[in-house]
Amino acid sequence: MKILLSPTVRTNIRSLAVFIYDEQEKDVFSAPQIPSRIRASLKKMYSRISHESNSTIVLPQGTGTTQVVIVVNLGKKKDLSQSSFTRAIRSATRALTEAQQQSAAYIFPELFFDDSKIVSMVARETMLASYTFSTYRKQKRKKTALAAISIVLAHRVAILAPLQTEIKNQLILAEEVNAARELSNMPGGDMTPTVLAEHAEATGKRSGFHVAVYNEKKMKALGMGGMLGVSRGSSEEAKFIICEYAHPSARTHKPVVFIGKGVTFDTGGLNIKPEMSMYEMHMDMSGGASILHAIAAIARMKLPVHVVGLIPAAENMPSGSGYRPGDILRMYGGKTVEVKHTDAEGRILLADALGFAKTFSPDVIIDVATLTGASLVALGQRVSALLSPNKKLSDQLIAAGEASGDRVWPLPLWPEYKSDMKSDFADIANISKSKFGGTITAAAFLWEFTPINTWAHIDIAPTMTSIPEDNLASGSKGSGVNLLVTFVEQRYADSAKS
Ligand code: BES
Ligand code: MN
Ligand code: ZN
Repeated sequence: MKILLSPTVRTNIRSLAVFIYDEQEKDVFSAPQIPSRIRASLKKMYSRISHESNSTIVLPQGTGTTQVVIVVNLGKKKDLSQSSFTRAIRSATRALTEAQQQSAAYIFPELFFDDSKIVSMVARETMLASYTFSTYRKQKRKKTALAAISIVLAHRVAILAPLQTEIKNQLILAEEVNAARELSNMPGGDMTPTVLAEHAEATGKRSGFHVAVYNEKKMKALGMGGMLGVSRGSSEEAKFIICEYAHPSARTHKPVVFIGKGVTFDTGGLNIKPEMSMYEMHMDMSGGASILHAIAAIARMKLPVHVVGLIPAAENMPSGSGYRPGDILRMYGGKTVEVKHTDAEGRILLADALGFAKTFSPDVIIDVATLTGASLVALGQRVSALLSPNKKLSDQLIAAGEASGDRVWPLPLWPEYKSDMKSDFADIANISKSKFGGTITAAAFLWEFTPINTWAHIDIAPTMTSIPEDNLASGSKGSGVNLLVTFVEQRYADSAKS
């Protein structure tokens, strides 16, 4: 996709998206950036613009060379935020794609974001809004994805050259977010731990980072009893996927270790999930998909950092050979876990990975997981949950969430919660004694296994799928990718110099 900056709309442009503020009157269409040939028809349409945030109208057919004109209402000027702007770009993209346009000019009113922010958001969000999951349709989606956008800014002249790297990076980022969405959207029958591992290897080759895959034999030798326990009921072999990227300037730096839950399908195991609760559980490897594609983006952008990614991948199935309530598993590092509920499997896999992370002498550990339904109850579907004993790390992640639009919000993590996870027979139980605070007690469990306190847990169950207000295709949202890339950029901004 090409992004251009242009002071005016070129006469041969066929489609236009005109962005206006809610309070702007008809005469907004007299602005010099609006081609004179369409001013009259736009004014005629004005009354049809719904005065709600993000509404889009399409003016069909033939005003000279212009085929499609879309008017997008940005909402009230004083309320404009990154998140409302993002949604407006997405709605323009979807309307233009619907109208099968391949290029368009976006005409903006006065905006308070800086140039780099505007081009970044347009590039990235257009690409995100162009994605749909159509791999399984007989009629693949027509390849109409917008290929070129020229941005026309009111009240200023921007210069494109210094923004080129930023645009390129944002397009890489959006591609990797979409790749994570595609991976999560794949049905559970086709996306097994083995397929996930093969996909990781191919991604590493394509993007320039190293990938190793451990099989069950190797896990047994290492003492990863959590992985083996969860996977025991499945006929699919578990895989422990290890990714590593080190920029030449950061090879000797302690790495940031990302860990992503890779449950390729979560039935609940013998404590089987009821009714529709099982429906979207092919996306229970979304954390794994996010960290894999965050590393791919970091590698492709050649950021001056050292990152390691661990994806414990397994399928949670009920079967005669499956792990049972009451089983006691010995985890990597030796601690034992009493399995009181086979549906609390994610934390068991993550515990092995957290223990194993120690072998990399990490600077930071961040795990990303669709871990608890309780996080949806706590936060709704617009933000992921963040739990960490480290205030500085937590603040950095919240800031990266705000900057990227891929938001996280903190829940408390105090040592008191650890006592809820006591077991009568093992070192720790995998579910809480209390039925309340399920997201926190899950994190308290993980806390027992992290080798360092510069650790954060991100529960992305709330943002696993899109909601209609996101203006994105149904299915996976790829949350976590943008967050982690932005976090790494911000935390290690100066490391190239050191
Ligand atoms: N993968 C689920 C959590 C989940 C639920 C993710 C809904 C996305 C949407 C996880 O493995 C699970 O089953 N958690 C249980 C834990 C409980 C048994 C303590 C839950 O949340 O009910
Ligand atoms: Mn589960
Ligand atoms: Zn799960």
